[in-house]
Amino acid sequence: MKLGVIKETKAGETRVAITPDVVKTLVKKGLQVMVQSGAGEAAHFNDAAYVDAGADIADVETVLACDVIAKVRKPSLDEIAKMSAGAVYIGQVESCGEDDSIAAMQARDIKVIALERVPRISRAQSMDVLSSQANIAGYRAVLEAAGHYGRFLPLMMTSAGSAKPAKVVILGVGVAGLQAIATARRLGADVYAYDIRPETKEQIESLGAKAIELDIGESGSGEGGYAKELSDEGKAKQQRMLVEELSKAHVIITTAQIPCREAPELVTEEVVQNLREGSVIVDMAAGSGGNCRLSKPDQVAEAHGVLLVGHTNYPAMMPTDASAFYAKNVANLLDIMLEPGEEGLVLKDLDADEITAAAQVKPVAEK
Ligand SMILES: NC(=O)c1ccc[n+]([C@@H]2O[C@H](COP(=O)([O-])OP(=O)(O)OC[C@H]3O[C@@H](n4cnc5c(N)ncnc54)[C@H](O)[C@@H]3O)[C@@H](O)[C@H]2O)c1
Repeated sequence: MKLGVIKETKAGETRVAITPDVVKTLVKKGLQVMVQSGAGEAAHFNDAAYVDAGADIADVETVLACDVIAKVRKPSLDEIAKMSAGAVYIGQVESCGEDDSIAAMQARDIKVIALERVPRISRAQSMDVLSSQANIAGYRAVLEAAGHYGRFLPLMMTSAGSAKPAKVVILGVGVAGLQAIATARRLGADVYAYDIRPETKEQIESLGAKAIELDIGESGSGEGGYAKELSDEGKAKQQRMLVEELSKAHVIITTAQIPCREAPELVTEEVVQNLREGSVIVDMAAGSGGNCRLSKPDQVAEAHGVLLVGHTNYPAMMPTDASAFYAKNVANLLDIMLEPGEEGLVLKDLDADEITAAAQVKPVAEK
C-alpha cells in the first residue's frame, strides 16, 4: 500500500502532513511512502531527510495517485482530479456542512477521513489534530502578544528602573487557552482567565492564574465537553459584565469559539476604547468573525491605540513542531485503520471502530 504526501498549496500553509521521523514508523509498518519533492521544505524537512527515512521522492502526479493521501489542508479540485478512484484521503476537510471538495472526492469513490471529526475520547487523544495544533496556537499567540507589546510581561527590576508585570487576560479555556495561560505564566505575567464552562475554574487555578467568574445566569457547558452557544440575553449580559474585567487588562488573548458558528463577541469596542494605549489583543477567533469585531483576519490592525493581532494560522508559524505533532496524529490513526493482508497492508472496516466511523465523511445517501 502506498501513502502519498504532497506539498500544501494553500496560501500561508507551511506544514507538511508526514515528517521523516514518522516515515520511518510507517515504512516499518509496511507502507511505501511517496513524498512530493519539496513537500517538507517550508517546515525544514528536506528531501534528503525523507529519503534517509525510507521514503521515495516523486512528482506530484505520481504522489497523488497513491492509495492513501495524507494532507494538512483540504485538497483542491485539481488535486482531487489527480487522485485515484477508490483511494483514501486523510486530512482536515475544514467544512461544517457539504462542500465542493468533499462532494468531488465522494463522486470519485474516495474515502474521506476528516481529522477534525476524530471524537474527543481518551483513546483518540493521540490522533486529535485539533488539540495538537491548538496547543501550539495557544503558545504562539502569547509570543505574538509579547512581541507586539511595547512593555515587559514579567516584573522587571533594573538599575534603570522597574516595570510591573503585565495583566494578561485569556478568554476561552480550551486547549489553546490552557496553553496560553501556561505560557503567559512562564513569561511572568499576571494572568486571569475566563470561560463559560464553570468546570474550567479548577484548571485555570492549577496553572497559577486567577479565574474570572461572572454570574450570567446560564451555563455554557454543552455536549462532549464543548461549549454551547449562550442565549442572546446571556451573550449581552456576558459582554456587559466583561467590560469592567477586561478594561484593566494590558494584553487580551481570545480563543473562544463554538464549532461551526460565528465566534462570540467578547471584547466590545467599549473595552478597546478603555484599554491603555499600546495594549494588545490577540484574537485567535479572527478567522471566524472575531471575539473582537475590530480585529481583521491575518492582519495586525490598530484601533483606539490598541493593536489587534488577527493571525488565523498559528501552527503554520511553527511548522516544524506543528508538522511533527500532526504527522504523529496521522500515523496513530493509520495504525487503527490498516492491518496486514495476504499481499501487504489492507484497509480495515472503518465502520467497525468508533474513531474511524466518526471521522469518516460519508455520502449523504449512505448515512
Ligand atoms: N480527547 C479529549 O478528551 C479532548 C481533547 C481535546 C479537547 N477536549 C475538551 O474539549 C473541550 C473544548 O476544547 P477546545 O480546545 O476544542 O475548545 P474550542 O476551541 O472549541 O473553544 C475554546 C474555548 O472557548 C470557550 N468558549 C466558547 N464560547 C465562549 C464564550 N462565549 N465565553 C467564554 N468562553 C467561551 C469554550 O468553552 C472552550 O473552552 C474542552 O473541554 C477540552 O478539554 C477533550
